Amino acid sequence: LRPIHRLLSCPGTAAADARRERQPSGSTETGSEERTPKKRFSEVQKERREQAQRTILILCPNKTSEKKFLKYLSQHGPINNHFFFESFGLYAVVEFCQKESVASLQNLTRTPSMGTEAAIPFRSRFFNLKLKNSSDQTSEQPYMPRCNQSPPSSKKLFELLCDAESIDDQLNTLLKEFQLTEENTKLRYLTCSLIEDIAAAYFPGCAVRPFGSSVNSFGKLGCDLDMFLALDEIGNFNAHKTSGNFLMEFQVKNVPSERIATQKILSVIGECLDNFGPGCVGVQKILNARCPLVRFSHQASGFQCDLTTNNRIALKSSELLYIYGTLDSRVRAMVFSIRCWARAHSLTSSIPGAWITNFSLTMMVIFFLQRRSPPILPTLDYLKTLADAEDKCIIEGHNCTFISDLNRIEPSKNTEPLELLLKEFFEFFGNFAFNKNSINIRQGREQNKPESSPLHIQNPFETSLNISKNVSQSQLQKFVDLARESAWILHQEEKDHPSPSSNQPWGLAALLLPSIAKSTSHGKKKRKKPASERIKNLLESIKSPENSTNTNGKRT
Ligand code: CTP
Ligand code: MG
Repeated sequence: LRPIHRLLSCPGTAAADARRERQPSGSTETGSEERTPKKRFSEVQKERREQAQRTILILCPNKTSEKKFLKYLSQHGPINNHFFFESFGLYAVVEFCQKESVASLQNLTRTPSMGTEAAIPFRSRFFNLKLKNSSDQTSEQPYMPRCNQSPPSSKKLFELLCDAESIDDQLNTLLKEFQLTEENTKLRYLTCSLIEDIAAAYFPGCAVRPFGSSVNSFGKLGCDLDMFLALDEIGNFNAHKTSGNFLMEFQVKNVPSERIATQKILSVIGECLDNFGPGCVGVQKILNARCPLVRFSHQASGFQCDLTTNNRIALKSSELLYIYGTLDSRVRAMVFSIRCWARAHSLTSSIPGAWITNFSLTMMVIFFLQRRSPPILPTLDYLKTLADAEDKCIIEGHNCTFISDLNRIEPSKNTEPLELLLKEFFEFFGNFAFNKNSINIRQGREQNKPESSPLHIQNPFETSLNISKNVSQSQLQKFVDLARESAWILHQEEKDHPSPSSNQPWGLAALLLPSIAKSTSHGKKKRKKPASERIKNLLESIKSPENSTNTNGKRT
């Protein structure tokens, strides 16, 4: 677990009201989800993007009076909502009702004179607010609520988990504490929108869209911000049919391949961010990767950003995960807890390497939920059969078609509680035949492994790719060992019924303790395997036949 700050609530702002109204409620309801209409992924993206375009970011003096600040900005038009947060300084995010207000403010804003240094004039939506007369503001400042953008500390999380009423309650509590807040989501879309302004200096009409965990419903406070530069939208202007004998084409510069085009585009955008992008620091161009990218820090928002280009398949995979995460409230609770468990035992890492990634873990949870009886999640092939004509989508020859309207997908009849699912998850993967089988969410069934990587999880759209190709045998073994031990701990607890008042970490809290990893990851190497095998056998021996799983993970 990462040492991080406490989550503060942000009372009194419209944003806080919006957050309270927002799902997920942390309800322990299972199976019978509320049938309130759920928004399509494209609708959410469109609304958020439009909202971000009328939003600005301001570095404020610490002594800013909220009232005077709002009054001053309101000269440019009505404000929809705002919030403050602390990063390297006090920042405000202000959303105007109309886009014109931003232009009006920009017209009254000056480029600072820098003394001996020189400023590169760039009219961004990221401003500095200066006080003309500081004494005027200081006297009657009440404390201004600030929205925290970080997840709770491990100490706080343990307290919350130990105070919970049940394991179900623990999983829902963890989700509530770690999920992206309304404000953090706004800040993510705003950051993309600010980067888009910079990229538009080269490519007018381009779009910078977030993808990955920022938008797929599995984002946790503090996760990176994946974004891609969409240039194909520029081409859309050509879509209008022209009449007559002529056809107009733009003069373009040609390069030998799509990959080289991507590298060249990212190279200039990287330069542009480095030279002209306010708050963009540590720009690295990683152009020789399979998927070339520019990595940088957006200092004000505190986001680590990965910018790629024309990554439409990844956006489709974000949409698919959004559908899975929104269909049933148990999905996100499971994914967040499993990710947190994996992080606590160093199964995942922020450094690239032979570790399992959060994306792979999400796929494993989805697959497990597809394998329940009755299934909690439908297969991707089933979602494809529900698609209508407008959902049809082929990208670079890959069929990425699936239904976009969540409301047309029947809710699951499965009512299993999270406590059971958590235990079964560990047993399922503690016994999974990773040596033979591949995890396949398209078919919702394990398949024979097409190649020899230790862990094989088929990319749902680029089906010849393995999303966990990087995972080593030893990392996979560590995952299996920890899964078995966690299943064992939950079984023991069920038997012993520890009292929540005993002050001992229990349930999910006990699974997050590093001590259980010690016997496997730091213990004597020779004993590692027998211990894990022993636990597996013990587990099998205490289970009744109707609950048992065979080595293929299939329920018998
Ligand atoms: N992706 C992929 N294949 C991979 C890795 C990533 O298709 N082998 C796509 C997925 O759509 C993923 C996105 O790229 O969601 C972003 O990757 P990454 O940042 O690694 O994962 P996230 O889902 O964003 O999770 P995290 O919170 O760890 O950033
Ligand atoms: Mg990410």
